Amino acid sequence: MRLFLDTASIDEIREINAWGVLSGVTTNPTLVGKEHQSPDEVWKMILDEVHGDVSLETTEQEADAMYKQGVELAQKATNAVVKVPMTPDGLKAGRRLTDEGIKINVTLVFSPGQAILAAEIGAYIVSPFIGRIDDAAADGMHALRQICEIYDVQGYETEVLAASLRHPMHVVEAALAGADIATMPYDVFTKLVKHPLTDAGLKRFDADWEALQAELMKGGA
Ligand code: G3P
Repeated sequence: MRLFLDTASIDEIREINAWGVLSGVTTNPTLVGKEHQSPDEVWKMILDEVHGDVSLETTEQEADAMYKQGVELAQKATNAVVKVPMTPDGLKAGRRLTDEGIKINVTLVFSPGQAILAAEIGAYIVSPFIGRIDDAAADGMHALRQICEIYDVQGYETEVLAASLRHPMHVVEAALAGADIATMPYDVFTKLVKHPLTDAGLKRFDADWEALQAELMKGGA
């Protein structure tokens, strides 16, 4: 399962990228808005920093305008992936983009039925929003498992990207469900690496090592 960062913060991206585990980035208008800079500048920094897929979201509502914006976004870099929403206009624009060989990520997907539509237009990625399904008092992981199973049974090549992940167990469960990609905020990445027994184990190793050095010094070895 590829791991993506769900952020538009170049500092967060640089930090996690340095770990060697980052395969891509997803952005949306809310995340870009938090940077308080021109979207073009924000996207350029991210596209230059990350070697993998970077999703850039369309903001036009109507199919023709969305298609034109999608073409412009795709031209920004070879690793740009165009995000379109799961709406009739998004499907229409998305189909035109995929027909031209442009990689799209169909976003704001909340049901297996919507995921089938995304696959049928030849989307490169489909993004079910797990946490937001949970927020609506439903079972986001159940929806993800159904989507993965349907794609498997039907032989759809569209990659399943588990989005709106809120904690490390969401990432683990997405991997078990068979998601191709998990995108998560910076704080979930930092929680994934942490374990109290790792910290305690390291402290003990450090102390034992220092004790050995002191013993050798004392013995004049
Ligand atoms: O990638 C989609 C994601 O940004 C939504 O996450 O936490 O706003 O539901 P959240």
